[in-house]
Amino acid sequence: MKQLTAVWHVLSFVILIVFGKKCSLDPPCKCTQKTETIDCSSKNLTEIPPLTKKLSEINFSRNLIKEIPDDVFQNCDQLESLDLSHNLISKLRQRSFSGLVSLKRLLLNNNNIIAVHEYALTVLKSLLELNFKRNPYDSLDLNLTGISLLTAKLDFRQPNNMTRNFWRMPNLRNLDVSGLSGACNVKTLTAQVFRLLPKIETINVSKCSINYIYKGTFRKLSNLTNLDLSLNRCLKFSGIENITYDLPYTSIKTLNINRVHQNFELNTEITITNFQNLKNTTLETLHIDGNRIQLVEPGALLHLPKTMQNLFAAENEFSYSGFIDDITKVPIQFANISNLFAVHNPTEVPETCDFVENRCIRSKDGNQRLSELYMHPQLKENKTYPAFIPVSVPPNLTTFICKGCNLRYEIPLVFITSNKLKHIDASSNIFFSWTGPLESLNNLEYVNMSNNFCSNISKNFFIGLRNLKYLYIQNNLLGFVLPKDEDGEILRDVKKLEEIDLSLNRIQLLPWLFFRHQILLRKLTISNNMLDNITFDLSHMDHLMYLDISKNRLSSLSISFRDQLKAKFKQNENLKVDISENNFRCTCDNVDFVQWVSIYHPYLDNLHLTRCYLKNTTTLNLQAAQHIYDTLKKECSSYTALIIGMVVLIAFFGSIILSGLIYRHRWKIRYLYYIIKSKYQGTIKTPIHTDTREYKYDAFISYAENDSNFVHNNLLHKLEDEGGLHVCIHKRDFIPGKDIAANITSSIHVSRKVIIVISCHFLESYWCMFEYNMARMESIYSREKENILFMIFLEQIRPGQLPLHILELVQDQSYIEYPNDEYGNTVFWEKLREVLAR
Ligand SMILES: *[C@@H]1O[C@H](CO)[C@@H](O)[C@H](O)[C@H]1NC(C)=O
Ligand SMILES: *[C@@H]1O[C@H](CO)[C@@H](O)[C@H](O)[C@H]1NC(C)=O
Ligand SMILES: *[C@@H]1O[C@H](CO)[C@@H](O)[C@H](O)[C@H]1NC(C)=O
Ligand SMILES: *[C@@H]1O[C@H](CO)[C@@H](O)[C@H](O)[C@H]1NC(C)=O
Ligand SMILES: *[C@@H]1O[C@H](CO)[C@@H](O)[C@H](O)[C@H]1NC(C)=O
Ligand SMILES: *[C@@H]1O[C@H](CO)[C@@H](O)[C@H](O)[C@H]1NC(C)=O
Ligand SMILES: *[C@@H]1O[C@H](CO)[C@@H](O)[C@H](O)[C@H]1NC(C)=O
Ligand SMILES: *[C@@H]1O[C@H](CO)[C@@H](O)[C@H](O)[C@H]1NC(C)=O
Ligand SMILES: *[C@@H]1O[C@H](CO)[C@@H](O)[C@H](O)[C@H]1NC(C)=O
Ligand SMILES: *[C@@H]1O[C@H](CO)[C@@H](O)[C@H](O)[C@H]1NC(C)=O
Ligand SMILES: *[C@@H]1O[C@H](CO)[C@@H](O)[C@H](O)[C@H]1NC(C)=O
Ligand SMILES: *[C@@H]1O[C@H](CO)[C@@H](O)[C@H](O)[C@H]1NC(C)=O
Repeated sequence: MKQLTAVWHVLSFVILIVFGKKCSLDPPCKCTQKTETIDCSSKNLTEIPPLTKKLSEINFSRNLIKEIPDDVFQNCDQLESLDLSHNLISKLRQRSFSGLVSLKRLLLNNNNIIAVHEYALTVLKSLLELNFKRNPYDSLDLNLTGISLLTAKLDFRQPNNMTRNFWRMPNLRNLDVSGLSGACNVKTLTAQVFRLLPKIETINVSKCSINYIYKGTFRKLSNLTNLDLSLNRCLKFSGIENITYDLPYTSIKTLNINRVHQNFELNTEITITNFQNLKNTTLETLHIDGNRIQLVEPGALLHLPKTMQNLFAAENEFSYSGFIDDITKVPIQFANISNLFAVHNPTEVPETCDFVENRCIRSKDGNQRLSELYMHPQLKENKTYPAFIPVSVPPNLTTFICKGCNLRYEIPLVFITSNKLKHIDASSNIFFSWTGPLESLNNLEYVNMSNNFCSNISKNFFIGLRNLKYLYIQNNLLGFVLPKDEDGEILRDVKKLEEIDLSLNRIQLLPWLFFRHQILLRKLTISNNMLDNITFDLSHMDHLMYLDISKNRLSSLSISFRDQLKAKFKQNENLKVDISENNFRCTCDNVDFVQWVSIYHPYLDNLHLTRCYLKNTTTLNLQAAQHIYDTLKKECSSYTALIIGMVVLIAFFGSIILSGLIYRHRWKIRYLYYIIKSKYQGTIKTPIHTDTREYKYDAFISYAENDSNFVHNNLLHKLEDEGGLHVCIHKRDFIPGKDIAANITSSIHVSRKVIIVISCHFLESYWCMFEYNMARMESIYSREKENILFMIFLEQIRPGQLPLHILELVQDQSYIEYPNDEYGNTVFWEKLREVLAR
């Protein structure tokens, strides 16, 4: 075994030597290498490893390299880019870079270079870009004879010498001496400084502690297009005057004078003299962010050149003043005045300037903050919102951005001067109620009114925005108003809408017809709301590409919505729906939904964030919807069986109890049935009152067919002929053609007493028992438990032969036995007649 490993080691060593060219660096393979480039950045290298011939790019940045040995790059004659930045290099020797004849780009910034041999760089004949920032060695002492740089990034330290200048670089286009990425400190710029850079196009002298810029500094630089003077806080906005003085002689396109204003300094006013020389320039873009500009002298804006397109003026404090009238003559197409009233960073150490400006701002319109009255002076005078606000806009302006401008208004009817506005971003303000309408914004395509605390949109707000395509109104409080818009009135006029973002609006529901006019909608975002059911229609949106209903409170998707989506998926294979981060349930009543997810998962976005909850609050990822569905189906079928079993069991016991109850009350039910039936048919009248009630018969005689002899011969004779009573017997008195049970019941009901002739035949006869029970019911339910039964025992019957309920009655109610002897008979009939007469 050991031998084998030894052989393996030897073998791999040989392989490494023969084929090891790819990993020629030491330590091997620490760096990532692609065919011709090697990235060795941040590898803690302390020295430059041996290198191969073929490389075109090497990155040694952020290591611990202390020196560049002679001829270390001797073989690298194809190397074009060498990054040695962020190391500990302290010396450039004569032969440090020898061999690098093709090198175009050399980055030496952020080292510790204190000595450079006079010929160290002159070998780099092809060099075009050099970065020498943040080294102690003075960049301006480098010997670059014979090198024709296009781009130079250097430190520029010469605070007390106004006569120093950059060495001759006849082809230099870009000069970056910005103090943001290097060390820059020049108190004064004069015509001397850039005079040997004839083709310069971009100069970046931001954060260079400049106090003065003399007239003539840029005058000879006819190809200058970009000039960045930002963050020279001692220059002040008034310093712009000497700059613009030279600009008509240049090709200036972009002028960057952001933040040339000190903390705790007076606010700025733009005067005519600041801008008057701009008229003859070719300026296109002006950056004047963070200068706390409050006032603009009327007429100053009229000096902006015709070429002017973009104005970046964020973090200022514009006040309403006379300049508003000039606005319609400003040629700009883009304006960004975001973050009005933003404060400067108070922790920033103020620069010490050579002079202190003591000029005071004219305070004619002072203290009128734009936030109070940007729109119109009426707003201030009245404190009420006028019904009509005219707003001046540069006629060619297409994009207007005022994010975080601290504007706090209701938006009433606004009339905007003739304009070409396409894009408005007024997010992060406090436009709390949008009444509108916004007149004459016919070209508007993009509106961002997010983060505005708005809780009200009127149905006419969007009335003029016929061409609106993108509407971003997320993070407001529109949940207060949108759910009430049953007929889709709010979005009635924006029929060309392609994207709408309604997220973060506390919406609980959106009505079915809310988007009825948005046929062209492509992207619909309603995430981060409180929807617990999707109730809006999207079947008409034939172009829908993305629907985001994530982060709501959906526990399921309703069948109707699933069907809508199903149809949409069929129509458009690229449609994606994001349903992630809701409260979906993976329970038995939601198994259809899980199945739906398992089928349509290719259309669902962010499925890895789509979870569902089991009954025991365990969460599952719906990426495994198929598996969840299978498990659920199994569980739920047994669950269903259990439910069915329970139902059957309950039904069984229920029916037993019910039939028990019915059995127990069978007589009552039958009695009531017949009574009601008879009443309904009119056979019996509703009794007026039990006491005063007139009975048709004095008695109803219940007897068995076999005992009819006794009844017909004896009983009828004795009661009717001799006693003068009127009795009812079925043979004679029943109404023919009527149901016998109904006949019995109604006859009993209209008789005062019921005489039961009990014999063995009686007990065996069905109809006799029926009559007996009906009579019993009659006494209980119609006669207030008055005893109406009277039993005649025709034969001797042993108590054992009697049914229990008759026996009970016998015990506490009257009965009489038929005596069958002369004297007894007389007494018997007497007693019977007496009973009946009562
Ligand atoms: C470099 O050294 C630092 C500190 O010694 C260490 O934290 C880091 O992980 C090392 N990086 C590499 C790539 O070895
Ligand atoms: C070298 O690598 C660093 C760190 O990855 C990177 O920032 C730098 O841009 C790279 N240099 C070049 C010239 O690509
Ligand atoms: C700069 O280098 C060139 C050779 O490339 C040499 O002739 C010249 O004297 C050097 N200049 C200085 C000031 O060292
Ligand atoms: C200013 O710089 C020039 C050119 O490098 C040099 O001749 C002069 O001595 C410097 N003056 C001072 C005061 O440092
Ligand atoms: C000027 O240089 C700084 C630092 O390199 C950079 O941040 C800034 O964007 C540059 N300005 C322009 C206009 O490119
Ligand atoms: C400015 O650039 C143009 C074309 O890019 C060139 O023709 C012209 O000579 C340049 N001007 C100077 C002073 O180099
Ligand atoms: C403007 O330039 C003149 C000389 O051309 C100079 O005296 C003045 O100090 C400069 N002003 C500023 C603010 O730099
Ligand atoms: C602009 O140029 C025109 C013609 O070249 C000239 O008459 C006018 O005085 C210039 N305006 C300014 C402000 O320099
Ligand atoms: C607006 O643009 C038109 C055509 O491009 C131009 O004629 C007009 O002068 C511009 N208006 C302003 C105020 O620049
Ligand atoms: C409010 O402004 C309107 C229009 O300028 C004016 O007619 C009305 O008098 C003002 N109301 C008050 C109370 O100042
Ligand atoms: C959800 O909305 C649909 C469509 O309006 C409706 O049919 C369904 O009953 C609703 N579901 C719930 C749980 O409210
Ligand atoms: C919840 O139920 C699932 C399956 O029914 C089971 O795997 C899981 O362990 C249960 N979780 C808890 C916390 O009981």
